[in-house]
Amino acid sequence: MLGLTCVLLLLGRAAPAAEEYGLEITNNGPVTTGAQATVHASLSMKNDSAASNLYHFNWIYAPLILIEKSEQQFNSVINVTSEFPGTFPVSVWVTHRNCWLCRPIARNVTVLQFTEFITGNLTIAQIEDSRFITRGSSSSVGAITRISFCLHDPSHYFKSASFVYTWDFGDGVYQITKKPFVYYNCSTMGNRTVHLKVIAEWEQIGSIVHEKEMVQKTGDFTTALELLDAVKSINVVGSRETHVMENLSLSLHINGTPPLALCWLIKSECIPLEGEKCHLVEIDGSCYNLSHTFSDAGQYCLSVRVENGVTMLQTYHEIKVWPTGIHPACFVLLCIALATVMLGLVLYTTFRSNTQQKDLVEVADFDFSPLSDKNLASYSESGCGRMCCRSCFLWSSQEAAWESHELLHSFYKPVKTYTV
Ligand SMILES: *[C@@H]1O[C@H](CO)[C@@H](O)[C@H](O)[C@H]1NC(C)=O
Ligand SMILES: *[C@@H]1O[C@H](CO)[C@@H](O)[C@H](O)[C@H]1NC(C)=O
Ligand SMILES: *[C@@H]1O[C@H](CO)[C@@H](O)[C@H](O)[C@H]1NC(C)=O
Ligand SMILES: *[C@@H]1O[C@H](CO)[C@@H](O)[C@H](O)[C@H]1NC(C)=O
Ligand SMILES: *[C@@H]1O[C@H](CO)[C@@H](O)[C@H](O)[C@H]1NC(C)=O
Ligand SMILES: *[C@@H]1O[C@H](CO)[C@@H](O)[C@H](O)[C@H]1NC(C)=O
Ligand SMILES: *[C@@H]1O[C@H](CO)[C@@H](O)[C@H](O)[C@H]1NC(C)=O
Ligand SMILES: *[C@@H]1O[C@H](CO)[C@@H](O)[C@H](O)[C@H]1NC(C)=O
Repeated sequence: MLGLTCVLLLLGRAAPAAEEYGLEITNNGPVTTGAQATVHASLSMKNDSAASNLYHFNWIYAPLILIEKSEQQFNSVINVTSEFPGTFPVSVWVTHRNCWLCRPIARNVTVLQFTEFITGNLTIAQIEDSRFITRGSSSSVGAITRISFCLHDPSHYFKSASFVYTWDFGDGVYQITKKPFVYYNCSTMGNRTVHLKVIAEWEQIGSIVHEKEMVQKTGDFTTALELLDAVKSINVVGSRETHVMENLSLSLHINGTPPLALCWLIKSECIPLEGEKCHLVEIDGSCYNLSHTFSDAGQYCLSVRVENGVTMLQTYHEIKVWPTGIHPACFVLLCIALATVMLGLVLYTTFRSNTQQKDLVEVADFDFSPLSDKNLASYSESGCGRMCCRSCFLWSSQEAAWESHELLHSFYKPVKTYTV
């Protein structure tokens, strides 16, 4: 009867396409045997109108032991445990609530790992300005490095255990602690491997003979520790003055372990290069040459930032840019030329104003020559250089004519036209 209803439902519902649903499945493994692991499944749908339906989550977790199962409208969570280490697939599929035998609308699988050892993580942090800075496995020489162990125990399986940590820094230094972290002052650079052995011990009531017994779990952890030299200094070698359109070459000498990330920027003011757009270069040595040509005069600043994974250093180099460099000899020549032109102009204007005083009116009144029109036209139609040259040329030829005419004018009465 149930089967028949289902078939009918299935037909009636016209089986939704598998892609309409997504089923995400996650687990919090790896976990220690005896502890609990949680597997979480979450259903999502693309068509919101399907959200009003009721769904059922079906789990397959054998041979793991189920501790708890919970189900909401679109989520389901199970807690499982295992006494044996291994890698176990856990699968889930979702059907409509009122149709258990129907085709699943979504399915997924996750792989859960149980290990007989303690699980956790080692992290490396460096103390800088009394703050902990984590930079992967890198730390800088001379700074205090904290190496800490983070236990992964989501079900609080180890809540009554006492721990002993044995650290081996790979340079013959061992340390045994009760706390899950150590401070380490590294004085030589290079790559290290830090080993940690964790022992957890606690008392529990035996499951076969109901007497108190000691239980022990252990874990071995390893992390790489890359000790880098801090960037100690940046030295900018080169001139602080240059001229417009001159190639200024600067050398940056950096005291720090490569590879270094160098970023530079030339602006009118010095700016801290943080998230700022600058010219980023990866350098493998300790020197970088840069050349720059300025197109405008003024005060500039070269801002440089160097980073090497553990430290960052910034420096500034001010540059004064003078207007285009003029050679003294050229300058003298130019001055002489300029003075000559000025003198000529002065002499000419004086001469003109003397002779032209009364003629100007007559000339202006009676000159309808096409030459002046042509001259005007040449101003508007040609480019500056051409215009200047042409007008200069025209002027000189016109003036020659003019002057001879003016000489005539002083003897004869003005005539209507005197053009060529
Ligand atoms: C299965 O689950 C994984 C992990 O959550 C997810 O990335 C993947 O998309 C899921 N597959 C389907 C078909 O929903
Ligand atoms: C969502 O489903 C309804 C009926 O179930 C259908 O009419 C509609 O077209 C669907 N929308 C999309 C975007 O698929
Ligand atoms: C299941 O696991 C979760 C997370 O690990 C935990 O918060 C919850 O208490 C567990 N449930 C039971 C019944 O142990
Ligand atoms: C270990 O660290 C990595 C990255 O730092 C993190 O993704 C992972 O969840 C951690 N594992 C445990 C067991 O804490
Ligand atoms: C680290 O060790 C070096 C030399 O061993 C010492 O000069 C330095 O002061 C130490 N740093 C700290 C913070 O103790
Ligand atoms: C240290 O290890 C890193 C990668 O972890 C490597 O790039 C680097 O070359 C190593 N340095 C030395 C001195 O071996
Ligand atoms: C500037 O000079 C350096 C060498 O001093 C050269 O490598 C670079 O190409 C020159 N740049 C220009 C734009 O001439
Ligand atoms: C930088 O320039 C100097 C000379 O100015 C030269 O000796 C050096 O090799 C150059 N360095 C690089 C990395 O080009």
